[in-house]
Amino acid sequence: MTESPRSGTEWWRTAVIYQIYPRSFADTSGDGIGDLRGVTEHLDDLAALGVDALWLSPFQTSPQKDAGYDVADYCDVDPIFGTLADFDEMLAGAHARGIRIIVDLVPNHSSDQHAWFQQALAAAPGSRERARYMFRDGRGDDGSVPPNNWESVFGGPAWSRITEADGTAGQWYLHLFDASQPDFDWSNPEVQEMFRGVLRFWLDRGVDGFRVDVAHGLVKADGLPDYTPPEDAASMGGEEADVPYWGQPGVHEIWRDWRRVMEEYDGDRALCAEAWMPGPDITALWVRSDEMHQAFNFPYLETAWRAADLREVITDSLRAFGGVGAPATWVLSNHDVVRHASRLALTAENPQGAGIGPKSKGKPDPVVGLRRARAATTLMFALPGSAYVYQGEELGLPEVIDLPDEARQDPTWFRTGGERYGRDGCRVPIPWVSDAPAYGFSPEGASWLPQPAEFAGFARDVQEDDPDSTLWLYRTLLAERRERALGAGELEWLDGFGDDVVAFRNGGLTVVANTGTDAVTLPSGVVVAQSGPLAGDTLPADTAVWLADA
Ligand code: GLC
Repeated sequence: MTESPRSGTEWWRTAVIYQIYPRSFADTSGDGIGDLRGVTEHLDDLAALGVDALWLSPFQTSPQKDAGYDVADYCDVDPIFGTLADFDEMLAGAHARGIRIIVDLVPNHSSDQHAWFQQALAAAPGSRERARYMFRDGRGDDGSVPPNNWESVFGGPAWSRITEADGTAGQWYLHLFDASQPDFDWSNPEVQEMFRGVLRFWLDRGVDGFRVDVAHGLVKADGLPDYTPPEDAASMGGEEADVPYWGQPGVHEIWRDWRRVMEEYDGDRALCAEAWMPGPDITALWVRSDEMHQAFNFPYLETAWRAADLREVITDSLRAFGGVGAPATWVLSNHDVVRHASRLALTAENPQGAGIGPKSKGKPDPVVGLRRARAATTLMFALPGSAYVYQGEELGLPEVIDLPDEARQDPTWFRTGGERYGRDGCRVPIPWVSDAPAYGFSPEGASWLPQPAEFAGFARDVQEDDPDSTLWLYRTLLAERRERALGAGELEWLDGFGDDVVAFRNGGLTVVANTGTDAVTLPSGVVVAQSGPLAGDTLPADTAVWLADA
């Protein structure tokens, strides 16, 4: 019997994967930064939520210039997060509860404190040590002009000039992100071999997969040609084609190589690509059968709360990912974008990474935002494939807009001289207990970013007691999704509800989401889940419902 491409039984095809941003999840040491023990302590909460896997943002050794996405040692745990023994304990605790663990890997760049980069600085131009990174001579008579015009994703030039060991002004190195994050040269076999070793290090410890950072950026076009992005370009790509540092064909060879390493190990393990590419068809290139297993569906995340756009991106995603035998994935929030309880009520489009702050125009209405977020999530969990949840969205947390300037830590804020607020607003430590210090995040009340007073009302303990809470909604949706095997289902569109409605069947359910302003008459059925109150037999604006056949 032949299997249809989307009917495999591997766990990652249908999994709900919960993103832990360790520094903001739960702090047991009291320093105001979350840690791995904090994750272990809350494993029962995560099991009760009903997620299949956890993806942990980087906890490896790092000077934390970009919140851990600047790695100095890929095979150790940073002391602020704990030890390798803490990691092993967390992994065992998760596995004991049937929860898988996905580790974040950052292969595009290291920290400037990585031993290899320090050796490169000490070595001479043209040396083996320099060849692991992208060092180039500057232009102009005295080499004082950067090798090309590329800009960093975080703002400012993508090149920094070093001082050579003899004290003279020297070569330049490429950093697509912060100056503390030098890009590796992936054409160098030593770099390739080093990362095979990193994969095996974590696979040997028993991890179930990797989320691969900037999986569209590792290969740069030959000759490093100048490139000027369009004015309104998203900083991580996403809308532009033919960028000399995003989505170059050579990246796919790297993922084929990594896939072979993964297949040295028994069991189902997954590679998930963070690739901000324009549209589902291009994103699907990352998940061809000999490459990665999953790619984040950023085109879906970037879709506004508009029925026609949602229908289109869902149709395109199922076709594109299904066409290469991969599951579609669905994601609404992560640590790089404005939380969807705020983003979906923004009056203007907000590109990823730009953030919102006290002086932003068109601030989102929190009531509308939360209503839409609950509806959008209700819609999302009914879709076939795999879905991602970012810590705190199960509490309905909004973006924290009123962070004081002096508290901000995202390099985007510094590199743009405060012009772009950056991503701190979605990274504020999450509330567990409404009347405890730091809302239960940290025992003595410390918090690396200040938590707003409104977090008391979003705390998990308050929501535990409230069947109408967002936490209960997530639990209900995830339990029903599992029970009805919606992740493995087939979507069948329903017509006749009008332009502002997304309606479909999956797993014996009728799913209806109203993105418009007028209430919509519902078909008959038994309500299994609802994002908000219904009005008789009608579905109000910004509301979604799951109906079982009567
Ligand atoms: C990815 C991460 C982001 C980080 C960047 C550089 O986009 O998600 O947080 O700043 O890569 O590593």
